Amino acid sequence: EKQGFKHFMLKEIYEQPGVVRTCVETYLDTTWSSDRDTNPVTLGLADDLFTDLEHVQIVACGTSWHASLVGKYLIEQLAGIPTMVQYASEFRYSPSPLTRHTLTIGVTQSGETADTLAALEMEQKRRQATEDLALAPRMLGITNRPESSLARLVPHIIDTHAGIEIGVAATKTFIAQVMAFYFLALDLAYRRQTLKPERIEQIIEELRQMPGQIEAVLESQERYIEELAHNFSETQDFIFLGRGINFPIALEGALKLKEISYIHAEGYPAGEMKHGPIALLDAKVPVVAIAMPGTVYDKVLSNAQEAKARDAQLIGVVPLNDEEAEFTFNSLLPVPPVDELLSPILTVIPLQLLAYHIAARRGLDVDQPRNLAKSVTVE
Ligand code: M6R
Repeated sequence: EKQGFKHFMLKEIYEQPGVVRTCVETYLDTTWSSDRDTNPVTLGLADDLFTDLEHVQIVACGTSWHASLVGKYLIEQLAGIPTMVQYASEFRYSPSPLTRHTLTIGVTQSGETADTLAALEMEQKRRQATEDLALAPRMLGITNRPESSLARLVPHIIDTHAGIEIGVAATKTFIAQVMAFYFLALDLAYRRQTLKPERIEQIIEELRQMPGQIEAVLESQERYIEELAHNFSETQDFIFLGRGINFPIALEGALKLKEISYIHAEGYPAGEMKHGPIALLDAKVPVVAIAMPGTVYDKVLSNAQEAKARDAQLIGVVPLNDEEAEFTFNSLLPVPPVDELLSPILTVIPLQLLAYHIAARRGLDVDQPRNLAKSVTVE
């Protein structure tokens, strides 16, 4: 069943190009061009979900919460709609005041996470209880299990088509959730005309190229990351830094590492490091920074240099063939230099491999880490 891979997690990491390909083929009209007046996205969602939309609120847990944070950047930047992302376990006991014309999205790969289901149910009920039509519930689920409890609770679903995931650490379902947010953001952008058709065409073309780009990262990086992992068999703490749309990827890299290797890891927005975590740094705490071309590239490099000045060993997820990055970091995990907005699909791959190889090197049960379950069906 593992098809020659040592663990399901590694097999699932390698399935990601295929998952992204399936998502693109399922939900994008790949023949679309900027002179067409049809929606390039084929999610098949009802128009009334989107009428007069003013806000989006998303509830999720764990890795699904990280995918939702990427989704927030996409919905805000491509479609211009203010978006809030909440931990389901927080939202259910301290919900935000009701906002008008709001789309509520629950994101859960299993479709069975108790906190996410309870948060959605609570939101549905409190909105149904108001007479004001502007506050009426509009609920959407993003899940890998279209037959799950989530699908029975909410009227509209985006099926992420990642195939069953066995490893407790989510990898291919994360990528598929992120893909769902690209499609949703593009769908909204098309409906609201917030992007020039040429820009939509460009994003579609980049999304079409993603499977090949992920394959290239897997092929070029795995051997090196396996070697690099040898350096960290005794390491006790890691810091992951990112900014903008790659901040959630720093969180995800840290979560993957702690889940399966039991190493303490923190993800932080790179600019926040100087407000506290920098005190942790010394030669024993490696720092992984994601520095991709775009609005915050120089800023992340200078944040990384601050860490270097404290003797931290610096690992950079950086664009291929980038001299400045080569100069800054001790170890490089290069990915193709794509549009900043698309970069999370690539930057997460070396971080998944890093977590996997460190845990495998430590001889741990990668697919079934201690104290964790694939679906968390209790509060
Ligand atoms: O099934 P869900 O997506 O709702 O699961 C949410 C979290 O329990 C889950 O993402 C957890 O954090 C994973 N083990 C992460 O790898």
